[in-house]
Amino acid sequence: MCGIVGYVGPRPSQEVLLGGLRRLEYRGYDSAGIAVIDDAGTLHSRKRAGKLAVLSDDLERMPMSDGTTGIGHTRWATHGGPTDGNAHPHLSHGGKLAVIHNGIIENFAELKSELIAEGIEFTSETDTEVAAALIGREYTATGSLERAFRAVVSRLDGAFTLLAVHADEPGVIVGARLNSPLVIGLGDGETFLGSDVAAFVEHTRNAIAVGQAQVVVARPEGVEVTTFDGAPAEGEPFEVSWDASAAEKGGWPSFMAKEIDEDPEAVANTLRGRVQHDTVVLPDLDALGDDYFTGIDRVVIVACGTAAYSAQVGVYAIEEWSRIPSVVELAHEFRYRNPVLTERTLVVSMSQSGETMDTLMAVRYAKERGAKTLSICNTQGATIPRESDAVVYTHAGPEVAVASTKAFLAQITALYLLGLYAAQVRGTLDAERRAELLTEFQTIPEKVRTVLDVRPRIRELANWMADTRSVLYLGRNVGYPIALEGALKLKEIAYIHAEGFAAGELKHGPIALIEPGQPVFVIVPSPRHDDTLHPKIVSNIQEIRARGARVLAICEAGDAAVLPYADEVIGVPPTEPFFEPLLAVVPLQVFAIELATAKGLDVDQPRNLAKSVTVE
Ligand code: F6R
Repeated sequence: MCGIVGYVGPRPSQEVLLGGLRRLEYRGYDSAGIAVIDDAGTLHSRKRAGKLAVLSDDLERMPMSDGTTGIGHTRWATHGGPTDGNAHPHLSHGGKLAVIHNGIIENFAELKSELIAEGIEFTSETDTEVAAALIGREYTATGSLERAFRAVVSRLDGAFTLLAVHADEPGVIVGARLNSPLVIGLGDGETFLGSDVAAFVEHTRNAIAVGQAQVVVARPEGVEVTTFDGAPAEGEPFEVSWDASAAEKGGWPSFMAKEIDEDPEAVANTLRGRVQHDTVVLPDLDALGDDYFTGIDRVVIVACGTAAYSAQVGVYAIEEWSRIPSVVELAHEFRYRNPVLTERTLVVSMSQSGETMDTLMAVRYAKERGAKTLSICNTQGATIPRESDAVVYTHAGPEVAVASTKAFLAQITALYLLGLYAAQVRGTLDAERRAELLTEFQTIPEKVRTVLDVRPRIRELANWMADTRSVLYLGRNVGYPIALEGALKLKEIAYIHAEGFAAGELKHGPIALIEPGQPVFVIVPSPRHDDTLHPKIVSNIQEIRARGARVLAICEAGDAAVLPYADEVIGVPPTEPFFEPLLAVVPLQVFAIELATAKGLDVDQPRNLAKSVTVE
């Protein structure tokens, strides 16, 4: 949420900043701006409401400066609408100082009153302008960007990553973070700063994650990291494991299309090296202690949105295989009640970005209350894994489209590995059954690939449904969170009313929504494994069909019981019941993107949204 980038080095910074912002645009795309300092010590700034393209077209028409120190910002509006005036950077100190910000400064109103009382005038509605004015005031007193910046950051409450430059100090960027991300990229004689590594991965893979409440002074030759009080500190160095091409659109029409195509690899890469001779190998969990899993009494998974739906799938399997009571809690609800937590409770956070503020706060809360914390995360160097007792990385590769797709499959894969690992340690699943499951697990990437072949048929379906105003999704057991995820995908990128229900809940109210022609996706479990769920859902299909629903069934290919009652049947290959969600979700992702495309919408940057929600 808001992307920030900084560059200091020998190159003209404008192009580097625009390149970084292009890769960070998924974090917010209401407005964008840059500030550059030239060698003569003049600060130039340009900012525009709208997507980054508006700013870059403007800069192309009227080039600004070839200065080699600069900062750039792409915004997701919090305080004040998406206007030129509210866009970052915000200037102060007579236009010599520029500040960009990601996050929310919670005490900005009282700080603003203090400045207004001193006669300072404001031109925007943002909290960032207040920070800029405070740093400007301190600069007058101290004559040093670093000292001025340090004096201000310790007065700010809430969540922020701030970068500042001053015209009198070319060759220096000062940055700080509290509860929002900041990563350093170390090049050869040049230094980058970014909200995440995407900002600079095309230039360097040599990164340092800045720790909580730390200040960074960046110069071309390197960085100095200190605490807010000025004590020496160290960030966490790491090498970015993917290269810039992984975050390029390539020949795909959108990042989302590319990422759906990468569903199979997301599962394969998350499994890779973690299954050896019918055994799950997760050295990542050693940090929790050898015996931890034998003594554990509860798993609580905290997450939001799509990540929470993957968790909902995962808890069925973890509980079934390991017999550890397991639940999912929305992260933003979890810490506002009084959950019972002990050190035998494993609080697992699920987050693609590793920066979601609600999830981060839930992790901190769990730690304070004595629970052990495990992060399942797709982003190296992110805050949540760094603050957790242990981390299992998903290896889905960078996810750029705002709507999460491949990360969802990778998250389920990681949770299943966790469930099988816990079962192995606790001896709750016999070795033969575990071997069967692991053998089948490894066929899933190929099966997902086969499911992707349904695209042309789903495109036709989406084309004739482009005017649809509402779509419902039904599932049972692990199919239920898939119904929720299918509905979320449609809402967020096609702006169509969509709701997912547990099929058993239908008669308790939602069936009143069914009227002739209402499209309903039904996720049907395989008939081969189970003699309860399948007939129940076939009855549900008959109930809605009798009321005129148009039934779109996702079921095992050749499921004869469904055929007579479905208007459309999307067949998926047979697999173990727990692996069915990894197949069933794919047509729903494809349906959402095809329908949004048929409506002419921007699938990568849906309205009002941003990836990586770093405000509460
Ligand atoms: C939906 C989506 C969001 C995220 C949620 C959590 O497509 O992407 O619902 O899943 O904001 O994000 P992470 O996983 O980064 O914590």
